[in-house]
Amino acid sequence: MKKTAELNLPDKENWGSRLGVVLAVAGSAVGLGNFLRFPGTAVNNGGGAFMIPYIISFLLLGVPIAWCEWTIGRLGGRYGQNNAPGIMFALWRRAPAKVIGTLTVLIPVLVYLYYVLLEALCLRYAYEFFSGGFAATFKQAADAAGGVDVSNAITSASATFAVESFGMAKNGSMFGTEMLWYVLICFACNFVIIFRGITRGIETFCKIAMPLLVLCAVAILIRVLTLDNVVDGRTIGSGLGFMWNPDWAKLREPEVWLRAAGQIFFSLSVGFGLILCYSSYLRSDDDVVLSSLSASSTNEFCEVVLGGLIIVPTAFLFLGPGNTPASTFALGFFTVPAIMHFMPGGSIFGGMWFGLLFLAAVTSSISMLQPATAFLEDGFGLKRRASVTILSMFTLAGASLVMYFSENVAALDFTDFWCEFMMILAALGQVIIFGWVIGAERAYAETRRGADLKIPSFMPFMIRYITPTFLIVVLGMWCYFNGPNKLRQMSPSLQGDLAVRSIYETAITAHYPDLDADTNESKFSQILGEDASIPASLDSLPTWLRAVEGEAEAARILAERTASIGRFVFVAIIILFLFTLGLADMACRGRIGEVIKQAEDAGVQLEAAT
Ligand code: ALA
Repeated sequence: MKKTAELNLPDKENWGSRLGVVLAVAGSAVGLGNFLRFPGTAVNNGGGAFMIPYIISFLLLGVPIAWCEWTIGRLGGRYGQNNAPGIMFALWRRAPAKVIGTLTVLIPVLVYLYYVLLEALCLRYAYEFFSGGFAATFKQAADAAGGVDVSNAITSASATFAVESFGMAKNGSMFGTEMLWYVLICFACNFVIIFRGITRGIETFCKIAMPLLVLCAVAILIRVLTLDNVVDGRTIGSGLGFMWNPDWAKLREPEVWLRAAGQIFFSLSVGFGLILCYSSYLRSDDDVVLSSLSASSTNEFCEVVLGGLIIVPTAFLFLGPGNTPASTFALGFFTVPAIMHFMPGGSIFGGMWFGLLFLAAVTSSISMLQPATAFLEDGFGLKRRASVTILSMFTLAGASLVMYFSENVAALDFTDFWCEFMMILAALGQVIIFGWVIGAERAYAETRRGADLKIPSFMPFMIRYITPTFLIVVLGMWCYFNGPNKLRQMSPSLQGDLAVRSIYETAITAHYPDLDADTNESKFSQILGEDASIPASLDSLPTWLRAVEGEAEAARILAERTASIGRFVFVAIIILFLFTLGLADMACRGRIGEVIKQAEDAGVQLEAAT
């Protein structure tokens, strides 16, 4: 190993301006989570009432963790580290620091593997709107419907387009289609920006993309709020009421609180390690307090005002409450093309909507690639060309797997699920390092360095006790509500049995139309038995029920395949985690450790508490 004095440190870049870093962090935060995930989550979790757990999560988790990440990141930069394992190790020379650092470097890469596919979908949709492709598809659907229920025909055509584009009907069906080109274009865009570096790449792009996407969103918002269409008695005003009228009873459901916390994590990009990485390129006296708040406020404006007022009210206006989908993915990609088409000027506004989503996705994607690039550079002394090439190969392979296992969006769903879990763990780790390992007073003294805004005096108490307690409660609730169910979803035999049973239950309900919710269950048990599995011998079933045997078998195969994908994703993430942990350990013992020592020898140290 080279001696410290001989180390050839890569030139460290810094942000060119305050505006640049704020827009880059805001760009990382503003993404599909704001425009698609937030409206779907809010409307299904109490509408206006959802804002209570949401604001509480923002204040108790979002703001403190963002300050904590900005501070830790900037501090890590002083130790010559732009990568999470190095930053954590510089602050805490213990094994758990490497684990937290590994989680923090891995999460963004994993999220990127599916996020880039959604980005490609947005690009494709924007193109279809601007090129008239959607207009032609929807006209064809309307013509085929012959004037009967045209709105339904267009909505179905929109859903069919999404199913085909995303290959949801069959594993592997996305390959060999146009989608592959869109994915490759997105990869090229993202990696070219990353390759150009912090100021010439990320900062320059975000300075153009962020104002542009906000302008597009404001233009669409004005269009939506001035819609004077009346559809079956519904107006845009009633759509806003549908979205925002509070359902206070929802606040009694713990899951609603969990979803609010999850939304804050995903949307503000806290716990991902993105802010940590970006802020490590700050100079040691650059402000973090006001910058963090500015980036978070920009995110909230885009989420609540722009995201919250556009698609759900419009979907309600044109399709009614029954057709406003529960899932964000379905709302965003199945329904929105149809509702944009119904709007006057739909081709332009639809194109602008998906264009802005694409820009928002790129500004987020690049922030997911930078942490791993920095890890390869800092940890192993790779030049930018080599680190970008390795990461592009790896992410292309990973995204191809997510693309291949596209049936039922299975791989995407499972990856997203485990990322959310890891995010909460990583955030907890960061907060513990900040509040307990460094010590809240000392850590905030570091935060205050160069600050343009005063930090409230209760923050040390908050970061030591309130935020970690809230995080532990969120983690516990997450495990309680999601864990057992997800583990069951990874059992092919159980899922196969449940799928078969569900087909038979539907057939029984159709055969006995007089059954109600109370009597259904006993009829099901009487015919199918108590157990989830159908009697081994199907001969015991009545002939009319056996008519759905083929359908039940197909459902079993699909359910088993989906569960196997879930298992595969789980095992792959564990292997990847262990592999990255090994790399982090090696780097901390080697190059990272040496650079940290060099920085300490040069006098770098923590700010003393005041
Ligand atoms: N924060 C990013 C988003 O909301 C990941 O899409």
